[in-house]
Amino acid sequence: TGMFTYDPGFTSTASCDSAITYIDGDEGLLMHRGYRIEDLAEKSDFMEVCYLLLHGELPNQQEKDKFVHNITYHTMLHEQMNYFFRGFRRDSHPMAVMVGVVGALSAFYHDSTDITDPHQRLIASHRLIAKMPTIAAMAYKYSVGQPFVYPRNDLDYASNFLHMTFSVPAEEYKINPVLSRAMDRIFILHADHEQNASTSTVRLAGSSGANPFACIAAGISSLWGPAHGGANEAVLRMLEEIGHKDRIPEFIERAKDKDDPFRLMGFGHRVYKNYDPRAKVMQKSCHEVLDELGLRNEPLLELAMELERIALEDDYFNEKKLFPNVDFYSGIVLKALGFPTSMFTALFALARTVGWIAQWNEMIEDPGQRIGRPRQLYNGSTLRDYPPIEQR
Ligand code: CMC
Repeated sequence: TGMFTYDPGFTSTASCDSAITYIDGDEGLLMHRGYRIEDLAEKSDFMEVCYLLLHGELPNQQEKDKFVHNITYHTMLHEQMNYFFRGFRRDSHPMAVMVGVVGALSAFYHDSTDITDPHQRLIASHRLIAKMPTIAAMAYKYSVGQPFVYPRNDLDYASNFLHMTFSVPAEEYKINPVLSRAMDRIFILHADHEQNASTSTVRLAGSSGANPFACIAAGISSLWGPAHGGANEAVLRMLEEIGHKDRIPEFIERAKDKDDPFRLMGFGHRVYKNYDPRAKVMQKSCHEVLDELGLRNEPLLELAMELERIALEDDYFNEKKLFPNVDFYSGIVLKALGFPTSMFTALFALARTVGWIAQWNEMIEDPGQRIGRPRQLYNGSTLRDYPPIEQR
């Protein structure tokens, strides 16, 4: 009973008002607070984008310096958290560690769990943005059996993350501006994407008044799936499985076959029915990184380019408007930077944290905000009598 709109997958239901991100899927347009993603990726840096998403305007120099200071101030993790990491198996997936550790932050930063205080919400936002690189790097260090590396506050956000990930006591990671810039760009391109599955999850979790750390942990869980943030990892696994250019047609045919669950990973998007603007920036960045590292003839990249070419010429992919998405190229860049495949989604979570937290703040500040409570169309049994166990 009751009149509800049935909209599986929410393809035509707006769940909120938002002033943060706009996507025009037919035009291939993505903008944050009115700025094109291409401009932000080219001219801005991740700290500015974080400020923009949180506060609605680009910072002036003084505001930027203060913001960077605030983020840098919070890069360290409570020392006690080290023991928490050590409770995981060495071969744990970094996303499993991230879900656990980020959720556990609420047990360490009690002051930030008061969501009614705007000042505390801001501190929680800064803490999350600042600590995610530390947590992701620690998850990586733990998995490879190396000692944790503390943050270096003299470095920029991306360089510090690369340092914490790749430095070892015997040899400090050498900062390369081209690679740091590429890392920063990956963060910018993943910073927000309006009401996708993980962001909607964060909002739904937050709508009950749950603390921000718990909400972000929920977002990380949702992001983990291969249809969402796990796609960049899936792209690399797919390229490795294809193995050689000659086998591309075979996999294209499989992707088209309705009886075969295989899909071309890194292709297609719920909203973009035109080229994903992030994919273009990422493709360019990918070439820069491979040139810098002398990996131009990297077979995996050649394979990726050929796959893209063949798919773009294919009727099936054209008719269904399946174009490469951001994850198609980000995986290759991350591999070139030295990250193992299992870290890819963790990096996505790191970058998306600012989007999640900006959306969470926006929701809490919305006077019309109510607890998220979807309805259903019941299709189960009608009312019946309870049978005693011996009569079943
Ligand atoms: N390969 C082959 N066929 C595909 C693909 C693909 N990658 N994507 C969609 N299709 C087909 C699908 O079979 C369906 O065909 P039909 O209409 O004949 O049944 C049609 O295209 C529409 O697909 P859909 O699954 O109904 O579309 P959706 O909006 O529910 O799903 C998607 C979008 C991104 C989950 C899907 O395109 C997909 O699984 N892509 C591969 C995974 C991937 O790259 N995900 C990353 C998304 S971008 C980053 C992020 O948001 O996290």
